[in-house]
Amino acid sequence: MEGSLAPVAELAELKERYNALLMIDDAHGFWAVGENGLGTASLFGVRDKVDIHYGTFSKALGSVGGFCAGRSEVIDYLRYYARSAFFSSALPVSVAAAVLESIRVVREEPEHLANLKRNRDFFQHELERRGFNTLNSRSAIIPVLIGDEAKLGQLQMSLFAAGIFTNIGTTPAVNASKCRLRLNVMATHTTEQLAFAADKLEELGKKLEII
Ligand SMILES: Cc1ncc(COP(=O)(O)O)c(C=O)c1O
Repeated sequence: MEGSLAPVAELAELKERYNALLMIDDAHGFWAVGENGLGTASLFGVRDKVDIHYGTFSKALGSVGGFCAGRSEVIDYLRYYARSAFFSSALPVSVAAAVLESIRVVREEPEHLANLKRNRDFFQHELERRGFNTLNSRSAIIPVLIGDEAKLGQLQMSLFAAGIFTNIGTTPAVNASKCRLRLNVMATHTTEQLAFAADKLEELGKKLEII
């Protein structure tokens, strides 16, 4: 919700100190963060310290489903006892093929990750210099704090009418006074598209007295 990064290196230290296991839900990190998109733990250089890696195919890869990776006895246990897996069908072959192809693209075309980083840095800078609070996001999902649910609804509808698709974060995900837009930057956005969105947000933000 804040676009923040978990301090995974510190978590890995704690897990060693207290002889615990470390599981990371890196739904927003895999294929978007770290070297070759290998996730938040890889960004901090502690990938091998994570006992259970969890990720989804529904974010950066644009598909559906997900994965859980770890020691074989952990995965075997989950196969038999995880409520979400037991008595459920496996991933359809067409989905698995689409996911494999997306992973191939991330591996073989590193320019997409570079473009994503460049685009998110540019867009966040453009929003901040127009007076929006982006909550120090470090992710490609950039929140814009609005703090008033009625204004947030109006803003989202007006942006949609202008051709700009946004998500929102509001109750119960966050407190109503901290409600926000969630702007998803893509590797394939052009600078012109991002500048257009920032201009439109500025115009509407002023009209609704958000900035
Ligand atoms: C942190 C986190 N974990 C897991 C999920 C679930 O992903 P999916 O929608 O692919 O089941 C989400 C989805 O938003 C998420 O944000």
